[in-house]
Amino acid sequence: MNRTEFDAWMQSETDAVEASLEAWVPPDAPAALGVAMRYGVLDGGKRIRPLLVLAAASAVHGLRAAALRAACAVELIHAYSLVHDDMPCMDDDVLRRGKPTVHVQFGEAQAMLAGDAMQALAFEVLTPAPEIVPPALQARLCALLARAAGYNGMAGGQAIDLASIGKPLDERTLRDMHHRKTGALLQASVLMGAACSSEVSAAQWSALSDYGDALGLAFQVVDDILDVTQASETLGKTAGKDLDNNKPTYVTVLGLDAARRHANELRDVAQAALARSGLHDAAWLSVLADRVVDREN
Ligand code: IPE
Ligand code: IPE
Ligand code: MG
Ligand code: MG
Ligand code: MG
Repeated sequence: MNRTEFDAWMQSETDAVEASLEAWVPPDAPAALGVAMRYGVLDGGKRIRPLLVLAAASAVHGLRAAALRAACAVELIHAYSLVHDDMPCMDDDVLRRGKPTVHVQFGEAQAMLAGDAMQALAFEVLTPAPEIVPPALQARLCALLARAAGYNGMAGGQAIDLASIGKPLDERTLRDMHHRKTGALLQASVLMGAACSSEVSAAQWSALSDYGDALGLAFQVVDDILDVTQASETLGKTAGKDLDNNKPTYVTVLGLDAARRHANELRDVAQAALARSGLHDAAWLSVLADRVVDREN
């Protein structure tokens, strides 16, 4: 697997996700709600979660129609979480994916509703006619996504995040917060991809779960690092925001060098888990683990 091959795969998969989202996020929702939804999810972002779904599905030779829907559903949940994360009652940010945030562009009430509607749409996308995706698989994908997005996952982690402002968290609590607010959705992306095949053994499922767990935490550790090391133009969002908002992060708790070392350790854990899965077609998952840690935005 060379870089050019990976980049070509990544481009064609992000194009497929973009085309599907373009088709599934309605322009004609009432009172311009669709305009705000499309602004929040189309044409932006690294699409890491959809790529994890599709890489995992390809590693297990999963059902393509299900994988593409899972990829779009997880991106809809993620985009909704960003719309709400940026609102004045949360992180109060004005820049996202290189554009004014949804509430700056459309107002707070519309941003709240756009997020709500994107969350519901994610589950609509996962539940097409039974001949497109078998109902048992639809239910499994919905369960994986709902658990990762809800009180015990992303939303719960966001609650801890807001409750931790100005507090010196210990590393264990910080890890728990990051696992929930970000890790859960990345891990669910991998597992939703894996669920698209019925041939995955319990040992392979467990190895992919460990891969997703380590990668998901690494992703937020790196996000904390980039917040202090990169410029807003590179990030497409306001740099230095964590310090401004008095948030405990891996950088404030461990220091920059130890945070970097930790991200690399987590990459090694993810790669070891992937090797343990014994899957022969997992090269894309392996490159994605490296990209998550080595990224600049
Ligand atoms: C940002 O996620 C929020 C976190 C969970 C750290 P991404 O860095 O994946 O944001 P986009 O999707 O590329 O904009
Ligand atoms: C966001 O974490 C996690 C979410 C669930 C959206 P951050 O607040 O660190 O994300 P950014 O840095 O604003 O993208
Ligand atoms: Mg936040
Ligand atoms: Mg934020
Ligand atoms: Mg951040």
